[in-house]
Amino acid sequence: MTSFIICGERKLSGRLWIHGAKNAALPILAAAILHPGTTVLHQCPDILDVRSTLKMLEFAGCVIHKEADTVIIDAADIHPCGFPTDWVSGMRSSILFLGAMLGRCGEICLDYPGGCSIGSRPVDIHLKALEKMGVTVVESDGKIHCCSSRLKGCRIRLPYPSVGATENILMAAARAEGVTVLENAAREPEIDDLCGFLCAIGVPVCSDGRGRIWIDGNSRTKDAVYTIMPDRIVSGTYLCAAAATGGSLELPNGIPAHLEAVLEIFERMGCSVERGRRQGIYMKAPARLKAAGHIHTAPFPGFPTDMQSQIMAVLAKAGDVSRIYEHIFEDRFKTVYELRKMGADIWTDSSMAVVRGKEKLYGARVRASDLRGGAALIIAGLAAEGETVVENGLFVERGYQNICGDLKKIGACICHTEN
Ligand code: UD1
Repeated sequence: MTSFIICGERKLSGRLWIHGAKNAALPILAAAILHPGTTVLHQCPDILDVRSTLKMLEFAGCVIHKEADTVIIDAADIHPCGFPTDWVSGMRSSILFLGAMLGRCGEICLDYPGGCSIGSRPVDIHLKALEKMGVTVVESDGKIHCCSSRLKGCRIRLPYPSVGATENILMAAARAEGVTVLENAAREPEIDDLCGFLCAIGVPVCSDGRGRIWIDGNSRTKDAVYTIMPDRIVSGTYLCAAAATGGSLELPNGIPAHLEAVLEIFERMGCSVERGRRQGIYMKAPARLKAAGHIHTAPFPGFPTDMQSQIMAVLAKAGDVSRIYEHIFEDRFKTVYELRKMGADIWTDSSMAVVRGKEKLYGARVRASDLRGGAALIIAGLAAEGETVVENGLFVERGYQNICGDLKKIGACICHTEN
């Protein structure tokens, strides 16, 4: 078992370069099979979920070459395949192979995806949209069978701006006959990155920036080189670590527009924040943070659900009362029980948490139960007096390339052990 051991109460200050975004890399890797040639991806993070996705690409027939953070994918020879159940059930993003394989091979049989247990995470929106594009969907024996002899471009209006459904439709539409017009699409920056990649491989994609995207599937694809965007959630996590310890942090490649809703919360807590014109974020925290009032998670440009646990850890030591409302996932407050072991005063029901900031948190043995919750426990450990052990650290390594090394660079006392 991987655990993180943290000696807390050290002020974190310095400068960090942020690696490529997990939630952009995973759909872009799946989309690489749409082009029967070579794609070169720079700034591809070396994290568990990326390694699993590369394994799936190889299983489907891709030849992969990896050099530092560059991945070269030759997808000339793809065959329709079903992936081993444990690969698919271990990772939510395996669902993105639906759109990609349908686009390239016209068929796929996939187990229901797994991933962090933060809610029920259905895929009905994905499947309904694909049916509209001419896909026959059969769900049986815990598997989803999809096939289509001819994907058709059409007009699709999503009932909710689901990130995963938007990505699946973009990929299927990239190889469909005619133009697809997608309305009420997700607007997360990772969606823009996938659109950017599709354009790079020769698929005309145009977005109005307000949830409407046009995809023309009629063009021939071409070889491409693409650089994945920096990870906004890793940026936000490190800013939380610095804020919780009364420190300061510069992120030269952090993109302020991707994190505006989070930066506004730091300002509410009394931090000073400087934003570069396109890139660059600098944040300096006061000795004691103020409460943040009410925070509501929402689709982009709202406050990201993926930052909810980390901001809660910061608020556990900030001012008086803050309230967090979780509107995306119904089971995303599990970390509360672990934070309480460290002295945090948090009351919660399934959709709201009331956090009363305490002067001090205390080191304890705690257990991560999902990726961002694990990161939140590390943040609390950094801010707490004494030693904290975060068990189940593997969750954290699914999304952070080198969280120990990065935090050490800015003054943290943290290491990880395997036993
Ligand atoms: C979500 C987050 C994304 C985050 C990712 C990983 C939002 C809007 N999405 O993306 O930012 O990076 O988790 O933690 O914040 N839903 C359905 N049916 C479907 C698909 C989704 O009911 O077919 C519901 C989900 O249960 C959830 C909501 O829609 O309540 C958002 O889901 P979706 O955006 O699809 O989730 P992810 O793609 O996993």
